[in-house]
Amino acid sequence: MPRKNYTISLLPGDGIGPEVVASACEVLESLEKIDGAPSFSFVKQRVGADVFEETGESITDEIISACKNADAVFVGAMDVARLPLEARQPLQELRRRLEVGASIRPARTFPGVEARCSHIDTVVVREVTEGMYSGIEYSAGPDAACSVRLITRKASARTARIAFTEASKRRGKVTAVHKLGALKLTDSLFLEACREVGEAFPQIEFETRNIDACALEMIRHPEEFDVILATNTFGDILSDVAAGLACGLGLAPSGCIGERWAYFEPVHGTAPDIAGKGIANPLAAILSAAMMMRHLDEEQSANAIETAVAEILANGGPRTADLGGKATTVDVTKAIIANILNSHTRR
Ligand code: NAD
Ligand code: IPM
Ligand code: MN
Repeated sequence: MPRKNYTISLLPGDGIGPEVVASACEVLESLEKIDGAPSFSFVKQRVGADVFEETGESITDEIISACKNADAVFVGAMDVARLPLEARQPLQELRRRLEVGASIRPARTFPGVEARCSHIDTVVVREVTEGMYSGIEYSAGPDAACSVRLITRKASARTARIAFTEASKRRGKVTAVHKLGALKLTDSLFLEACREVGEAFPQIEFETRNIDACALEMIRHPEEFDVILATNTFGDILSDVAAGLACGLGLAPSGCIGERWAYFEPVHGTAPDIAGKGIANPLAAILSAAMMMRHLDEEQSANAIETAVAEILANGGPRTADLGGKATTVDVTKAIIANILNSHTRR
């Protein structure tokens, strides 16, 4: 059978983005040495704050069209905090124009890596197109400013559908997060949409929790959480909390999934404190590449990458400083590739 070839739009971005994207691409390219595994055509695009400062454009319509025409999109990280209000906001644009239903953010402990808790295996399913990050902000005179937290039934329901579907592949529980006491209209609409979707999944246990109490409970009893379903900002915060409880941002992958398009990115940002030093942990990006493979129905490739990551960590393989080691990004990448190729020859 001819080898499948995927066109991947690559958006490395700023800071450590290009470093970890290069590493994930090398891992994907190493799959080409395995019979039956796919090959890749990477099409690199410049987005983010560096390109904005050089050209005045942080993302263009052509880039978004190229992303829509690709089989999948892979993103590093962008220094969006450096972009002025009037600039196009690339992450928000990608998420809206690719009609992303949810960012799926798994967090789990890995044997061989010290973690804040003994065991966590959870997925935050986060709405990413509206809520507090709707981008509707205005000044209300010199001493006041306003952000609109837009919540719609349509976006809430499509995120909820993804959460319930994830839960049916996992331990069968969804926890929807809200702050009804303060956000009466928006969060009752969000929860109503979640409940309506949940009716089609009677086998899934559904519970709701206040965001503050949920954060506390995640720290006290992390093992109780399976799928956490959240609006944009609450999901942003809880996905970092979950990553912090597990093995840190260096091991936190994500996939932004829609009905027609999907893009994959590590949960972390551009890490300006370590950018350019060659010491960023590439595993969050590599695990995001595995999520991309699974999304493309390349289950075997996804498993090969995930098994390599788990084995390298469990067997005391090279690790970067965030995981207590001294290895460089390149050392870790080489170890993952060697593991993938060795396991293939052992089979
Ligand atoms: P950050 O995730 O970049 O960094 C937080 C801390 O984690 C830093 O100490 C950093 O060194 C460490 N860290 C992050 N990723 C790491 C990795 N792979 N290996 C080792 N250590 C790692 O968060 P921040 O400092 O709050 O944000 C920096 C910039 O990134 C801001 O402009 C922010 O808006 C942006 N950001 C972008 C995205 C994205 O593009 N998806 C996500 C989050 C933050
Ligand atoms: C994330 C990031 C972004 C978000 C920021 C940088 C706008 O924190 O993807 O988690 O929350 O949307
Ligand atoms: Mn975040």
